[in-house]
Amino acid sequence: MRIDVFTIFPEYFSVLDISLVGKARERGLLEVHTHDLRDHAHDRHRTVDDTPYGGGAGMVMKAQPWSEALSSALPEGGLTPSGQRPLLLVPSPAGKVFDQATAQEWSEREHLLFACGRYEGIDERVIEWAADRAEVVPFSLGDYVLNGGEVASLAIIEAVGRLIPGMVGNPASLVEESHSDGLLEYPVYTKPASWEGLDVPPVLLSGDHGKVDRARRDWQLERTSTRRPDLIEKLDVAGLDKKDKAT
Ligand code: ADE
Repeated sequence: MRIDVFTIFPEYFSVLDISLVGKARERGLLEVHTHDLRDHAHDRHRTVDDTPYGGGAGMVMKAQPWSEALSSALPEGGLTPSGQRPLLLVPSPAGKVFDQATAQEWSEREHLLFACGRYEGIDERVIEWAADRAEVVPFSLGDYVLNGGEVASLAIIEAVGRLIPGMVGNPASLVEESHSDGLLEYPVYTKPASWEGLDVPPVLLSGDHGKVDRARRDWQLERTSTRRPDLIEKLDVAGLDKKDKAT
């Protein structure tokens, strides 16, 4: 997978040299290019923003630096080497909220580009211009407002990057984690069995795998009902039943 990030704060992305994403880059599974948007602003002050038409508070990012910057990384002919459209992701509190199913979909794409806006956002015409050159998806991390798209893009790069085949040492750990089956993950414990007067649930020491699986499923349901009742409403009960019968 190739990722291009466009930002006025390239320093934010130095963390991508470390941890799982850093290792994936070393192993050639992932290629990340960070671009400074100001390199595409040609006045003396390298200006990337201006006042909004129609008035209002704050500043808006100008279209020209964006089209020039994006053009420098979009594939010639409009398609990736394997014939996919590039995916331009635009972090914005006005986007559709990102989730695990979306992470899975995006991990199967060959080329992601992130347009990190600041101030009041990017001139909307950039979105229209880019739609002729890529699939454009404005996305939100959640219903709160960040200062810009950098932190949201980093979150997506981590969530998507870890799903690229070959990234995670034990793929089974991806199957059992929170949200993979619509439920939150069950609680986990390690040695010692008793600590500070608190005991590990005895069923986990029973050696009976069937019992352990059933207890873990009960804990998942209990935890999801109390913490995230909205997920229970969306649950694919038939799918869960089938999975449980198979274990
Ligand atoms: N930019 C500002 N707030 C954001 C959010 N909640 N999600 C994604 N990008 C943002």
